[in-house]
Amino acid sequence: MTDPIHLMLPPTIVVGAGASAQVGEHARRLGGRRALLVVDPFFVANGLAATVEGHLTTAGLAVTVFADVEPDPTDVSVRAGVAAMAAAEADLVVAVGGGSAIDAAKMIAVLHVNGEPLDQYQGYHRIPRAGAPLIAIPTTAGTGSEATQVTVITNTVAQTKMMIFDRHLIPSVALVDPELSASMPPDLTAHVGVDTLTHAIEAYVSRVATPLSDPFALSCIDLVGRFLERAWSAPDDQEARAGMALAALQGGAAFSNASVGLVHGMSRPIGAVFHVPHGLSNAVLLPAVTRFSLAGAPERYAVVARTFGAAGDEHDDQQAGARLLTALEGLNERLGVPRLGQLEQVDEARFAASVEKMAQDALDSGSPARNPVVPTHAEVVAIYREAW
Ligand SMILES: NC(=O)c1ccc[n+]([C@@H]2O[C@H](COP(=O)([O-])OP(=O)(O)OC[C@H]3O[C@@H](n4cnc5c(N)ncnc54)[C@H](O)[C@@H]3O)[C@@H](O)[C@H]2O)c1
Ligand SMILES: [Fe+2]
Repeated sequence: MTDPIHLMLPPTIVVGAGASAQVGEHARRLGGRRALLVVDPFFVANGLAATVEGHLTTAGLAVTVFADVEPDPTDVSVRAGVAAMAAAEADLVVAVGGGSAIDAAKMIAVLHVNGEPLDQYQGYHRIPRAGAPLIAIPTTAGTGSEATQVTVITNTVAQTKMMIFDRHLIPSVALVDPELSASMPPDLTAHVGVDTLTHAIEAYVSRVATPLSDPFALSCIDLVGRFLERAWSAPDDQEARAGMALAALQGGAAFSNASVGLVHGMSRPIGAVFHVPHGLSNAVLLPAVTRFSLAGAPERYAVVARTFGAAGDEHDDQQAGARLLTALEGLNERLGVPRLGQLEQVDEARFAASVEKMAQDALDSGSPARNPVVPTHAEVVAIYREAW
């Protein structure tokens, strides 16, 4: 007998043009009276923050705006958010932005209730009590954080990206409004889109994938195969934006219930040490990690290849795996994703000095243990070098 499987998702998910305009009614339904609006500064400038604030005040809530959210949110900014929440006596959190704003909001909502020290929550299932209700409104069609029980917070002392996994991090409501991602420039579209693809591939080949997570993963891979390059080359292509917004949500739903793997394990240390954006550091690693991992799950990778459109039924599993690798390398090339050593943020001497610690941090995060092939420390170092 195998163990029972389960699926954890936000209780309310709304997908479609105009979904974000429902924020007021959901906030009221959740019993909110005073909202902390955690918003990426980009949307303060472009006016979306004011629009969302308007929906909330029309629904009768008082609103305090917290826009001190940087890409790859830190423990420092989370603490500032908790202080803002306490000062405003807020009882509900609304997040508007990419994975960074949503992740910061998740941590603010739970830290407000559970208290310091923040780093005690790193790892799996360490948050004792539910936080304030959270409504997540994603804008990047990338991380899927709106659907996940995960937050990633930079520890400014240890210089690591802490992965915190707990059901109390699942938003109460995800409002997925594809129109909000139309303002993304092509590079951002490419990077966050490969992050989405990586979530689904890693979830599908994960050692802990389940029949409940698989459908989300495969739908995501199919959508990315059809829509990523379209959204990248024609930012106003609404069908493509809608496809990628759905893909991001489904990729999040998949990996949150089946784990990410070695790409994410190795990507977080690159982000922590060199401040390379998350999607970009995944994209840089995806081909090399796939090459390393193929032999651990050839049938699963073949299904990925066929779903992505890289192989057909006429290809056997080994051919399909090889074609997937070629497709991922080609995708990076067309999207302009450089090699690790070509990234402007990554200095060669610092890389050489950091690579052993990065490999250890990758292994310590737990994600590589779910990879189809579980690497040794030396193998992780070798893959970093191969991606160089
Ligand atoms: N919690 C999870 O499940 C999960 C999963 C994967 C990644 N992450 C984390 O999410 C973070 C990355 O999030 P991200 O990739 O969504 O990017 P991001 O939130 O860091 O945003 C990147 C940049 O894009 C800008 N931006 C956001 N939306 C925009 C839009 N619509 N138009 C124009 N500019 C826009 C932001 O201002 C920012 O400068 C990382 O910290 C990563 O570790 C979390
Ligand atoms: Fe990711």
